[in-house]
Amino acid sequence: MSEDSHPVFDPKNMPFRRLGGSGLRVPLFSYGGWLTVGGSVVGDPVKDLIKTAFENGINMIDTAEAYAKGNSEIEIGRVVKELNLRRSDLVITTKLFWGLRSGPNDGGLSRKHIIEGTKEALERLQMDYVDVIFAHRPDPTVPMEEVVRAFNWVIEKGWAFYWGTSEWSAREIEEAHHVATKLGLIGPIAEQCKHNLLYRERPEKEYEPLYRKYQLGTTVFSALAQGILTGKYNDGVPADSRFATEKQQMFKDAAARLSSPEGLAELAKVKALTKYAETELGCSVTHLALAWVAVNPNTSTVILGATKPEQLVDNLKALDVIPKLTPAVLEKIEEIMKTKPTPVVSFGWTLALDLSLELS
Ligand SMILES: NC(=O)c1ccc[n+]([C@@H]2O[C@H](COP(=O)([O-])OP(=O)(O)OC[C@H]3O[C@@H](n4cnc5c(N)ncnc54)[C@H](OP(=O)(O)O)[C@@H]3O)[C@@H](O)[C@H]2O)c1
Repeated sequence: MSEDSHPVFDPKNMPFRRLGGSGLRVPLFSYGGWLTVGGSVVGDPVKDLIKTAFENGINMIDTAEAYAKGNSEIEIGRVVKELNLRRSDLVITTKLFWGLRSGPNDGGLSRKHIIEGTKEALERLQMDYVDVIFAHRPDPTVPMEEVVRAFNWVIEKGWAFYWGTSEWSAREIEEAHHVATKLGLIGPIAEQCKHNLLYRERPEKEYEPLYRKYQLGTTVFSALAQGILTGKYNDGVPADSRFATEKQQMFKDAAARLSSPEGLAELAKVKALTKYAETELGCSVTHLALAWVAVNPNTSTVILGATKPEQLVDNLKALDVIPKLTPAVLEKIEEIMKTKPTPVVSFGWTLALDLSLELS
């Protein structure tokens, strides 16, 4: 405890990276509350999860207005108060888009929803500000100038320090930067995107120019492909897993896909990767999959999803695997997975993803 009785934050062995071109330092592994916090996990177990995260170097928590219909933010706010965590020790991010009610102005990225949605999120979190506020999806029905101006207003008010995007196309992110530059305003500093060994085209190919041009940061989600890369679905869907317990259609579709030809081909790769991780690297496939995302220099933070403190602590063993990912090991992983995006081809020249020009 510090003199003013706040628990002292000890980063332990957690590396910190700047979030894109901003000055904000984020832990390489953060914790996110989709489906879990306020949904499948409520009350004291949420406190255990956040306390465990904080005590293991994770001071960044990601949530959204839509997670558990606002209850994720409510639970996080309650627990931060109960644990008496110092606000400046924490990096809290939330996201706006879906809203909580079904009125014509209750969602999307209008100036009205961005401002009202931010105020409501802060009330649920019992906080004066979040560190980063994300547009949870693009909204093509709203002029980009309105979106950029509204997020800048939120920043000017001190309700957020930075803003970012989630699941926007590269074209949309570029447009936001062009509008912000034209108006002398702040552009998005990071994209919250999916990236894992089974999903690579967008983060590695589509966004590639954005990392160089705008120093785009990434807060990566589904690094374990919602559990597929833990190997837990290798022999069917366990009864206590997300694909079995969650009611939404997307999980029924995901479970059904596992027995399709594409799903079976993916599981065969996961099985081969599991064997390689265990026999050659002395780690689990879960740790290897997480370390593989973390070692990517364009990753700012990997958002871990976990239902139990033990899962969180176990997943942090990925930090020990990072030094094992030598160029030769990374090449072997490519051979097993065969998911590397094809290079961009331009006028007979191959534009390699590291942007060195090679004759094709
Ligand atoms: N911006 C967006 O649109 C967006 C979308 C998705 C997620 N996110 C953010 O990213 C966070 C993480 O996403 P995600 O939940 O999809 O991540 P994920 O890491 O791909 O999946 C997490 C799930 O994998 C399983 N798991 C994790 N560790 C495990 C272990 N050691 N052993 C066995 N199973 C394990 C658990 O599933 P079971 O429940 O089956 O145990 C856990 O809930 C979310 O909480 C959210 O903050 C953002």
